Amino acid sequence: MTDRRAVPTGVGRTALGVAAARARESLRPDRLFDDRYAAAFVAAAGWPEQRPEERSDDPPEGQAMFHHLVIRTRFFDDLLLAAAADGCLQVVLPAAGLDTRAFRLPWPDGTVLYEIDLPEMLAFKERVLADQQARPVCRRTVLPADLREGWGDQLVAAGFDPGARTVWLAEGLLIYLSASEAADLLTAVGALSAPGSRLSFTHPVPDSAVVRRTLATPSMSGLAALWQGGLGEDPSDWLAGHGWQPEFHNRSALAAAYGRPGSSGSRGGFYSAVRLPG
Ligand SMILES: C[S@@+](CC[C@H](N)C(=O)[O-])C[C@H]1O[C@@H](n2cnc3c(N)ncnc32)[C@H](O)[C@@H]1O
Repeated sequence: MTDRRAVPTGVGRTALGVAAARARESLRPDRLFDDRYAAAFVAAAGWPEQRPEERSDDPPEGQAMFHHLVIRTRFFDDLLLAAAADGCLQVVLPAAGLDTRAFRLPWPDGTVLYEIDLPEMLAFKERVLADQQARPVCRRTVLPADLREGWGDQLVAAGFDPGARTVWLAEGLLIYLSASEAADLLTAVGALSAPGSRLSFTHPVPDSAVVRRTLATPSMSGLAALWQGGLGEDPSDWLAGHGWQPEFHNRSALAAAYGRPGSSGSRGGFYSAVRLPG
């Protein structure tokens, strides 16, 4: 039996770090998104209240991670809405964590959104959302499951239609999986994706500024210790070899487009792909 009062631990704690960044961004007058539930998750976990401004004593590594999380949140907000507007009305968030897009994005009519994560995480999330009287703006289904095991059947049993075009987002997940687990997950996603479906995810670029700084910072060693590396090969090559047309989105270029600081010249970024027929 999952304890609904428990605060996520282990890899689940990483979702709280993301929520803290989203809470902080949501306080800024020039915010790139407004996640009004993020602060409630952080408070329910007993973490300190966020403040919008950067302090001069903030470690640069923490600031780099904050900017990474903010840019990626806004980028995937835009990507998911564009896919939905283009007819991908099934949305699946493997490792949804404390993602509140079901509640805060203007989804088109008919959007059905599935959130998959570990039972402990989803129990905590549902309790906080219930306390906040949060109401989704699309049809939302929550699926407690381990993404290293046979979650695909559970998704279909929950109503997912493999014949309909879908947009998938695995944000902040693959790095916590081994190469074979990441490949198995993406293979299962491919098997459930009708032609024209979209897939998007984050994946560490080994020499990107955020990865280098995190690995080199003692206070972030707890986070880095959870990293399993993700796909052992270049994600674009993997996608191209498995029925997808890939695209890479450089984070520095996105940051510039959003008017935010970025590590200029960094190779870090995000992946998206379109499912090819056949
Ligand atoms: C960094 S958080 C990202 C959460 C969310 N995608 C976001 O960006 O807000 C990583 C998430 O992966 C989930 N996760 C890690 N391994 C998992 C697994 N094997 N099965 C299901 N969820 C997993 C954790 O519980 C956590 O919620």
